[in-house]
Amino acid sequence: MNILAFESSCDETAAAVVRDGRQVLSDAIASQAEMHAAYGGVVPEIASRKHVEAIAALTDKALADAGLCKEEIDAVAVTYGPGLIGALLVGVNFAKSVAYAWGKPLIPVHHLRGHIAANYIAFPELEPPFLALCISGGNSMLVDVRGYTDMSIVGATRDDAAGECFDKIARVLGLPYPGGRPMQELAEGGDSAKYPLPRAKVAGSGLDMSFSGLKTAAVNLIHNAQQKGEELDRASLAAGVTAAISEELVPRAMEAARQLGHHTLAAAGGVAANKFIRADLKRACHENGLRLYLPPLSLCGDNGAMIGCQAYYEYLAGVRGDMSLNAYANLEI
Ligand code: KG4
Repeated sequence: MNILAFESSCDETAAAVVRDGRQVLSDAIASQAEMHAAYGGVVPEIASRKHVEAIAALTDKALADAGLCKEEIDAVAVTYGPGLIGALLVGVNFAKSVAYAWGKPLIPVHHLRGHIAANYIAFPELEPPFLALCISGGNSMLVDVRGYTDMSIVGATRDDAAGECFDKIARVLGLPYPGGRPMQELAEGGDSAKYPLPRAKVAGSGLDMSFSGLKTAAVNLIHNAQQKGEELDRASLAAGVTAAISEELVPRAMEAARQLGHHTLAAAGGVAANKFIRADLKRACHENGLRLYLPPLSLCGDNGAMIGCQAYYEYLAGVRGDMSLNAYANLEI
């Protein structure tokens, strides 16, 4: 079964063709990151306009790269939430038009389910059940994946996402957007213990997380140093922030796996590309006897292939959209 999948929830427009859930025939992506870099973050209105400009040509490219014509496409899939509402609406309306014009079934896909599914592409042997650690620019959560379409959140951030925390601190440090990768490069050789940074304790749930206190503490530290004319050890601050974020994520993932009885952990989302967090996850999983799946960097960020992959399992479960399909900024997993 060949699925043409669209992703437009944030600042990447993507169209991909995926066969039977696991075989990626094409994965065309147009990133807008450079455009938004001038503003230090994603400008939603610009994101929507850029999606409109890119999506038709990306569709042609996805079909051409896959070597298929529209008659060989069996279904059309699209991310319908969560994300930037204007950006999502571009993908949803385009996918609806394509499905209608070509007479194909339409499959709505949850963005984070897609991120988790990136692991199925990278690791053909991976099957539920497992625990997923989803860490991106908009979300940070632990998901109990009982089946391909049966999952629930067991822990989540109460405020900012891990990626947002990286991005905001990076911006105050004058690093380019998105800040995760530049923060990682800056952190090389830094002393993560040099600056005392807070570790959040969230009342009520041992598996929930919080990143806003860390963000504020780091921003205050930078501003304080600037006001006093003190030189900041930027590498150590970046290393300290990374260590604090990792300590928020990794022990909670271990605890969630223990509570749920999972022996497998799969990471997902842009922040899962961070080499320090990857190393901490490897170490912790080794110590706790967990099998760890870390998708390659190319599959950590937003892409269309992950949506096409998850769409296949949604299709098998009977999930269909119709011409009334809407986009949702917030959407339960
Ligand atoms: O999954 P993603 O591409 O988009 C969302 O769905 O949000 O994640 C983007 C986030 C950004 O916050 C970006 O700074 C972060 O992933 N990121 C990283 C790294 N590469 C990307 N964060 C830390 N270290 C990295 N190497």
